[in-house]
Amino acid sequence: MEAKEDVKILAIETSCDETSAAVVKNGREVLSNIISTQIDLHKLYGGVVPEIASRKHIEKINPVIEEALKEAKLTFDDIDAISVTYGPGLVGALLVGLSSAKALAYALNKPLVGVHHIEGHISANYIENKEFKPPFICLVVSGGHSHLVKVKDYGEYEILGHTMDDAVGEAFDKVARVIGLGYPGGPKIDKLAKDGNKNAIDFPRAFKGDSSYNFSFSGVKSSVLNYVNSAKMKGEDINEADIAASFQEAVVDILVDKTIKAAKDFGIDKVAMAGGVAANSGLREAMSKACENENIFLQYPSIELCTDNAAMIGAAAYYDYIKGIIHGLELNAVPNLKLGEKHRG
Ligand code: KG4
Ligand code: ZN
Repeated sequence: MEAKEDVKILAIETSCDETSAAVVKNGREVLSNIISTQIDLHKLYGGVVPEIASRKHIEKINPVIEEALKEAKLTFDDIDAISVTYGPGLVGALLVGLSSAKALAYALNKPLVGVHHIEGHISANYIENKEFKPPFICLVVSGGHSHLVKVKDYGEYEILGHTMDDAVGEAFDKVARVIGLGYPGGPKIDKLAKDGNKNAIDFPRAFKGDSSYNFSFSGVKSSVLNYVNSAKMKGEDINEADIAASFQEAVVDILVDKTIKAAKDFGIDKVAMAGGVAANSGLREAMSKACENENIFLQYPSIELCTDNAAMIGAAAYYDYIKGIIHGLELNAVPNLKLGEKHRG
């Protein structure tokens, strides 16, 4: 049989505060991955301001796409399909990427592949390990999502558990604000935690040891807040590094515990991590140790591919494209899109 031609997908991601475009070959080879971050802009307000995010995406989207093609040394003619995140995310931000993708698909007469943002995060795991494939258990931890997912096959997901309140990244960002570290808090807590004692304060671990795969992070967040307020009221000094380390330890403990439980319960010996919080060094270390103890193979993306980027969208899109799953130009942004839900046009 004749070998199938290479598939080159142009991918676009604008669901939150990064404007990104990438070219990905055969779902696994990144030819370019341009990320223009807006963090410095949103930092002034302590979090992402949706209106500002949309405007900045409009400004950046065309240059970022041009740069992605230039770096890949390709032209639009070389591209087989246009892929784009169409949810979940900030609606105004999503619409910028989606409109550009639709305009390109129409003008170039190329297929459009809409991708679920979380499916993108999960697919980031296919990029750096060409052998890694489903089935596996994936811990998805980002600024807006905390899910434990059974990846049964490419594009086939079963959500085993999710957060009942805050996402993990949200908890990191809020705790960082409480101890005066600023936005985005995750990387700052990660860094400061290295200088602290993780056993200094015993913050709560919700649902630990129970039979569900669900999470809750509002308790630990309030507990940090109470700890800081009560110290302030008593005029006592707080040790920010100890708080960061103890908070991170409480969160990591529960994430590792539930992930390993899922892998063992389902008899799956492969685990992956995805999303911005998967960049956390404490989580990587603890998950590596736990997987080693249980003879479970662990995969996680490099830091750049953990946080929002378009290469992960191109990786996810490939597996839909080869199955013939494409969208019509009426595809709309779906801010609360559920994982596994496909909108067909
Ligand atoms: O996946 P992502 O880039 O965007 C969403 O889809 O939400 O995740 C962003 C989140 C933020 O909450 C950020 O604080 C967190 O990931 N994050 C981290 C680290 N790097 C990013 N959290 C903990 N440790 C890190 N090293
Ligand atoms: Zn994300």
